[in-house]
Amino acid sequence: MEQSYRPGLEGVIAAETAISFLDVEGEEIVIRGYNLLDLAQQKTYVDVLHLLVFGTLPDEKELAQLEHTLAEEGKVPDPIWNILKELPPTMHAMDRLRTAVSALGGFDPDVEDTSLEASQRKGMRAIARIATIVSNLHHVREGTEPLLPEVGKSFAENMLRMITRGTPSAEEIRAFDQSLIVYSEHEMPNSTFAARVIASTMADMYGALTGGVASLKGYLHGGANEAVMIMLQEAKTADQMESYILEKLRSKARIMGFGHRVYMKKMDPRAQLMKETLKTLIDSGKAPVRAQTWYDMCVIGERVMQREKGLYPNLDYYAAPVYDALNIPVELYTPIFFASRTAGLVAHIIEQHANNRLFRPRVLYTGPRGLKPSSN
Ligand code: SDX
Repeated sequence: MEQSYRPGLEGVIAAETAISFLDVEGEEIVIRGYNLLDLAQQKTYVDVLHLLVFGTLPDEKELAQLEHTLAEEGKVPDPIWNILKELPPTMHAMDRLRTAVSALGGFDPDVEDTSLEASQRKGMRAIARIATIVSNLHHVREGTEPLLPEVGKSFAENMLRMITRGTPSAEEIRAFDQSLIVYSEHEMPNSTFAARVIASTMADMYGALTGGVASLKGYLHGGANEAVMIMLQEAKTADQMESYILEKLRSKARIMGFGHRVYMKKMDPRAQLMKETLKTLIDSGKAPVRAQTWYDMCVIGERVMQREKGLYPNLDYYAAPVYDALNIPVELYTPIFFASRTAGLVAHIIEQHANNRLFRPRVLYTGPRGLKPSSN
């Protein structure tokens, strides 16, 4: 058996999948045959959710039915809210979410059923409930009662309403919906790999999703969008952005929102779309004044990082100012990433269960051999 080893499995093919593929040369993110950017321009998140989990884009009737199902299933069992209310208010939002996702399994009658129909039902329930939980995390932490999704409103509008407790404009709903589409699925990132590794023991969907949340929190992965906004707030103004970055680089720090294991020295196509989405929001007059400052700072940051490190933005770099422009609290940025990515994770967990091979790699052993325990 040929044994190869690549630190961090860099460049290693870890699974076969019909769900998505990053064609870096062709600069296309393929989602079940479609270009993700085409989907982001022409469809809604729930269209893409249907494509990921059921395998096809929905017709009008199927879309309306799925929107209705998601609003209905988004009613979270009260014990989950009680668990969240008991958690320390200092607990990171992703740790609170991880706790809630794990507990959700106890309230799903299909939890142990890995058949396709049960898994698709479970997937819709998980996506809907996780979106409601994410949208209320900060409210519950502050002791405010959760707001639930309303039948008749779209998934994106419901999330924005629950998060901001306001009445989002059409432009704001569209911008948020586009962010959900570009966050929905991205081949085999660490969190998807984690979920598939767990699912490969035939562990249940909620266990695999819990592993995904735990992985996504890390600042090398999903936690970067929260870190980008903290960076912009620290750098404060466009005039200070270049010196701020140069100082960070001198101290060998990573600049959040730049670089990517797969895109390497290329711009993440999703980042370009979110940059345009931010500009559209600003031009619509629907964004707070500070959004223009963030935009100007991000453009300067791009120029400095290309010049100094030959690195380009990833999705998190422009998703962060878009979320700030939508008045979303920073602590929800990564949880929203997870809520959106749950659609892709559900698809991967179903695919893993349907055609499974247990993940059990080997090691390159570098420790000692031949030692004998003393007989004292
Ligand atoms: C996501 O996998 C996915 O698809 C993930 C994701 C998805 O949709 O699921 O796209 C979402 O996680 C995007 C990435 C978000 N993370 C960040 O923005 C954190 C900052 N970026 C990095 O830490 C880094 O770029 C990674 C983690 C994203 C990729 O790391 P790699 O492939 O392991 O690259 P590396 O650490 O080997 O770095 C290669 C070189 C190094 O320089 P040298 O030491 O060789 O001189 O590039 C440098 C690094 O120092 N480098 C950076 C940098 N990223 C890489 N230097 C400064 N700032 C950075 N952000």
